[in-house]
Amino acid sequence: MPLAESARQLAISDIQSYLAEHEQKDLLRFLTCGSVDDGKSTLIGRLFYDCKLIYEDQLTALLRDSQIHGTTGGSFDPALFTDGLKAEREQGITIDVAYRYFSTNRRKFIIADCPGHEQYTRNMATGASHCNLAIILVDARNGITTQTRRHSFIISLLGIRHVVLAVNKMDLVQWSAEIFHNIHREYTDFASRLQFTDLHAIPIAALHGDNVVQRSQNMPWYEGPTLLSHLENVNISADRNLVDLRFPVQYVIRPNLEFRGYAGTIASGILRTGDEVMVVSSARRSRVRRILIGNKEVSHAQAPLAVTICLEDEIDISRGDVLAHPNNLPCYDTDVEAMLIWFDSSPSKTGAVYWAKIGTFTVPVTLTKLRYKTDVNSLRKIENPPNPGLEMNEIGRAHLTFHRPVAFDPYRKNPPLGSFILIDRLTNNTAAAGIILDSATADSRSALSRIHPASRNIQRESSLVLPNVKSSLTGLRPFTLWFTGLSGSGKSTIAKLLERRLAQFGYLSALLDGDNLRHGLCRDLGFTPPERSENLRRAAEVARLFNDNGILVITSFISPYQADRAIAREIIGPDRFLEIYISTPLHICEQRDVKGLYARARAGEIPFFTGISDPYEPPTNPHLTIPAHEWPPEESLRRILLLLRSHGAFLREAPQEPNI
Ligand code: ADX
Repeated sequence: MPLAESARQLAISDIQSYLAEHEQKDLLRFLTCGSVDDGKSTLIGRLFYDCKLIYEDQLTALLRDSQIHGTTGGSFDPALFTDGLKAEREQGITIDVAYRYFSTNRRKFIIADCPGHEQYTRNMATGASHCNLAIILVDARNGITTQTRRHSFIISLLGIRHVVLAVNKMDLVQWSAEIFHNIHREYTDFASRLQFTDLHAIPIAALHGDNVVQRSQNMPWYEGPTLLSHLENVNISADRNLVDLRFPVQYVIRPNLEFRGYAGTIASGILRTGDEVMVVSSARRSRVRRILIGNKEVSHAQAPLAVTICLEDEIDISRGDVLAHPNNLPCYDTDVEAMLIWFDSSPSKTGAVYWAKIGTFTVPVTLTKLRYKTDVNSLRKIENPPNPGLEMNEIGRAHLTFHRPVAFDPYRKNPPLGSFILIDRLTNNTAAAGIILDSATADSRSALSRIHPASRNIQRESSLVLPNVKSSLTGLRPFTLWFTGLSGSGKSTIAKLLERRLAQFGYLSALLDGDNLRHGLCRDLGFTPPERSENLRRAAEVARLFNDNGILVITSFISPYQADRAIAREIIGPDRFLEIYISTPLHICEQRDVKGLYARARAGEIPFFTGISDPYEPPTNPHLTIPAHEWPPEESLRRILLLLRSHGAFLREAPQEPNI
C-alpha cells in the first residue's frame, strides 16, 4: 500500500475510533445562573479558553473586541466570547438563553447560559428544564442575594438535583477563606430546605482562571476539585427515568393503507418490540410490532429518542394520546396541584381559563384556586397575600382543573409528563410554567387502582362484634401511627420499643414493618416510585383492616413521597391517621449505615435508594417530629404516649399506670 494511502487509512480509522469514543461519552447538561455581573459569561469564556476550545480566528476577533468593549483594560476579556449578540455587548448584559456545546476527554457538555435580570426568569426556567446540574454564581463581595435564592428555588422546583455554588471574584476579596466559608455556610443553610442531592462549593476567579480549569495558586486552603474536574466527575447516572414508559404521540403517520405509524419522542422509559402498551385515555391495549428510528428498524429504544412505532392492532390513537405499559400507567385526571412560576406582566386570575400545553396535548384549563405564594427568600408560604394573583416572577401553588382528563405524572417522578405551560388565550403569551406536584383527587393517584378497579360484584361484610367492643379489649382506640423517615433513621427501633411499652402497660397493638411486608405480602415489589406507591397502598389497606378490627397499628415504612402518605391517610381515614416523622438527617443515617446499604447505594449498586438516588419528601405538617439522633429513646416514647393521650387513645387505665 502506498504510504499516502496507509496514512489516509490510519486517519480514517482514527477518526472513526475518535467518533465512536465520542459517542460513548455521557452528556452533562448544565446551566449557569446568578445575578447580573456575577460573572456568568466570563466563567464560560474562561472555561472554553482554558480548555483550548476557541478557534484561532475567534480568538483574534475576541482580542480585538476586548480592546473596544472589554472590561479588562484591553487584555483578553473572556465574557465577550459568550455575549454573542451585539446589542447585548453594548449594554453589557446577556439577554437570551445561549446554548454552548463542548467536550473533554471524559464527557460531553451542553451549557445553557441564562440571563440574570429579574425580568428574564422565564428564560432561566426554560434553560433549566433539561439540565442535570446548575452552577449558581455569586459575587464574593455580595454573597447570597434574593436572585440567588429565587434561582435556587426554581432550579429545585425543576428537579435539578446537582448544584455547584461557584463563589466568584475571589481576587477582589483578597482570596479570603473566611469570606468563602461564610457564603458557603449561608447557602448550605438555605439549600437544606430544597431538594438537592449534592451541593459543592468552589472558590473561583473566572476572569483570571483560578480553580476553573486550573488549580489556583492563590487559594492553597481550598482542597476540593476545580470546577471542570467536578463537572467531569459528578455522578448523574441515576437522573434518567428509564422505568416508567411514557410515549406521547405527536403525529399519526399514514402515507398509504399499508402503513400506520405513531411518531413522537419517548418521554421516559424503554420501549421494546413485543411490549404490551395501553392508550391511557381509552384503556385500549395492543403490542408493539415495529420501532423505527429514522428509517432504521430497532428492537428497542429509550428516552429521549424520537421514534415511529407500529402496533399489532388498529386502535384509535390521535395526537396527544400517551402510550404506557398497562402495569405502569401515569395518572389520568382533570385536577392537579401544581407550582406555578408566573411570567406574564398581567397577574394570574383565579377562575380564569388558559390553554395548558402538556407534552403534545393542548387543553383548556381553569385556575381553580391559588393556595399560597412562596416567599423565595425565606421559602415560607404566604397564605393570604395582599395581592391575590401571582405577579410576574412570583411562584405559588395552585389547584388547576383541565377541561378534559389529561395523562400526567408528578414532576419529581417524570419531568416531561409533569410539566406544562399556561398560555393566555387572548394574547397568546406564555403566562406561566407549571410543575405538577400531584393529582388533586385520591383515586387517580394509584395507577394500579385504575388497572385493578374493585370488582362491581362485591359488597362489604360487617362484623358481629362492634368496633368499640373490640377496642375495649385492646384498651386502645384504633389509630394508625404512621412512622416515616429515611432508612436507618430509627423508625423500626422506636416502633418496636413503643409496641413493647404498650404491651407492658397491658395494651395490645400491631406492628407493620417495611422489611417484613417486603418478605411476604409485597415480595413482588421493588423500589421504583410506582412500586413504592403500591407497597404503601397495600400497607395502608392492611393497617385499615387492623383499625377496622379495633386494633391500634404502628407502621414503619420509609414512605418517602408526600403523595403516597396522603393516599395512606385517605385509605386509613384522616381521623385515625397520626403521622410521626423521624427526622434523623441523612448524613447521620449514612454515617451509622446499620445495614451497609448506604455504602452500596453510593457505589451505585442499589438504584432508587432513598436519600442518595431517590428523594425523600419530609412531611409538611406531621403530628409529631422526632429527632431520633438527639432524643434518647425514652423521650421519644414519652412524646408518642403524650400524643396518644391527647387524642384520647387510652380507653382504660393501664394495669400499670403509663409513666408519662
Ligand atoms: S418504602 O419506600 O416502600 O416505604 P420500605 O420501608 O418498605 O420502603 O422498605 C425500606 C427498606 O428496604 C429499607 O429499610 C432498606 O433496608 C431496604 N431497601 C432496599 N433497597 C432500598 C432502596 N432502594 N431504597 C430504600 N430502602 C431500600
